[in-house]
Amino acid sequence: MASSEVGIGVVGYGMMGRAHSYAYAAAPVMRTLSVRPRLRVISGRDEARVSQAAAAFGFESWVTDWQELVRRPEVDIVDICTPPGTHAEIATAAAAAGKAVICEKPLAITYLEASNMAQAVRKAAVLNAVGFNYRRVPAMSLMKRMVDEGAVGKVRLWRGTWLSDEFVDPAIPFDWRFDRAVGGSTIADLGSHLIDMALWTVSGVTEVCAQSETFVRERANPRAGGSVPVTVDEASSALLRFEWGARGVLEVARTAVRRPCDFTVEINGDAGTLVFEYARLNELKYGEGADDPGLYGMRTIRAEHPTHPYAHDWWPIGQGVGYGASFVNHLGDLLDRWPAGPWEPDFAQGAAVQAVCETIERAAAEKRWVSLAEVTGS
Ligand SMILES: NC(=O)c1ccc[n+]([C@@H]2O[C@H](COP(=O)([O-])OP(=O)(O)OC[C@H]3O[C@@H](n4cnc5c(N)ncnc54)[C@H](O)[C@@H]3O)[C@@H](O)[C@H]2O)c1
Repeated sequence: MASSEVGIGVVGYGMMGRAHSYAYAAAPVMRTLSVRPRLRVISGRDEARVSQAAAAFGFESWVTDWQELVRRPEVDIVDICTPPGTHAEIATAAAAAGKAVICEKPLAITYLEASNMAQAVRKAAVLNAVGFNYRRVPAMSLMKRMVDEGAVGKVRLWRGTWLSDEFVDPAIPFDWRFDRAVGGSTIADLGSHLIDMALWTVSGVTEVCAQSETFVRERANPRAGGSVPVTVDEASSALLRFEWGARGVLEVARTAVRRPCDFTVEINGDAGTLVFEYARLNELKYGEGADDPGLYGMRTIRAEHPTHPYAHDWWPIGQGVGYGASFVNHLGDLLDRWPAGPWEPDFAQGAAVQAVCETIERAAAEKRWVSLAEVTGS
């Protein structure tokens, strides 16, 4: 049992506020942590809803102003679970107050904003992490480990797709997800997870070309009546060139009928292939070029064996883990490294992902190949 405590302040009580609160409660149950998270305060703009969330999620108190949460002395870690357009202001204020910061993805709306956030936490010398939780899905962690250990040889091709149906219905009213200034883009919303996994497992991206489309261009205004222009892409695709010569294809869409959250990642090297499909998230497909030709095909690895990443923290092999486990693994890792760190992925890595997102956005807007250096200036 951990003897020391760390005070948690969660900003936002929506889906991610719930997921992170769940993970703080579950992490000490599932693994032996060096520190016990204490849910000190949650913030939200709506008094009735935030007070209800505080009671349901197990927080000691709630506030309607995130600035008050940042100022509270009992809060050691500010965990930001609000829309992307709000991240920079909150994270910068938290760093200035000397708090460690965990921020949901995508880190920001633009690369400039994201790199300023990375600079702010560096200057304040506070621990910082971005919410790329899918790295800690056991099968994705295993994929990374196998690539690092040479299971596929030299990586030639990377392929990532994320198809969802959340924007299919034109009757869905306007909310922050359709607003570029608050929600960013679909490239950054869905694509940031995939790009993070690509940068993590393959290498940096040097150049992209892309296309985007918004099929439903106006949505009903739920507050004022009438309609509001949709300012985000609904579907985008890109060709990627990686450092060291690998090539990649990315597709993200929120307009794919009957596709709930189907993301896939495939890596083809000169010696093997690895395939991950989220719908079967405890499995990893592996084809090895050197195995018996009579067994041509891919084997299905159950990514639950005690030798696999995170498996020892969960249920016996065969029981499986789900989406919630990725948050428990992610936040559990961060808590275990409190207060010395390092935490990863950190804001610098979040900004690197944002640079690729912005390069894709620019390539789609300008209908040309764009190099990463045009966005980062280096
Ligand atoms: N890692 C993941 O798997 C994952 C999944 C979903 C969302 N996200 C990210 O988490 C963040 C929050 O997403 P969510 O799904 O929890 O959103 P949500 O709409 O469910 O909740 C948003 C919360 O932010 C508050 N808020 C503060 N300022 C707001 C504003 N200007 N407009 C709207 N709401 C505002 C809302 O009151 C609410 O508490 C986003 O950055 C999103 O991209 C990550």
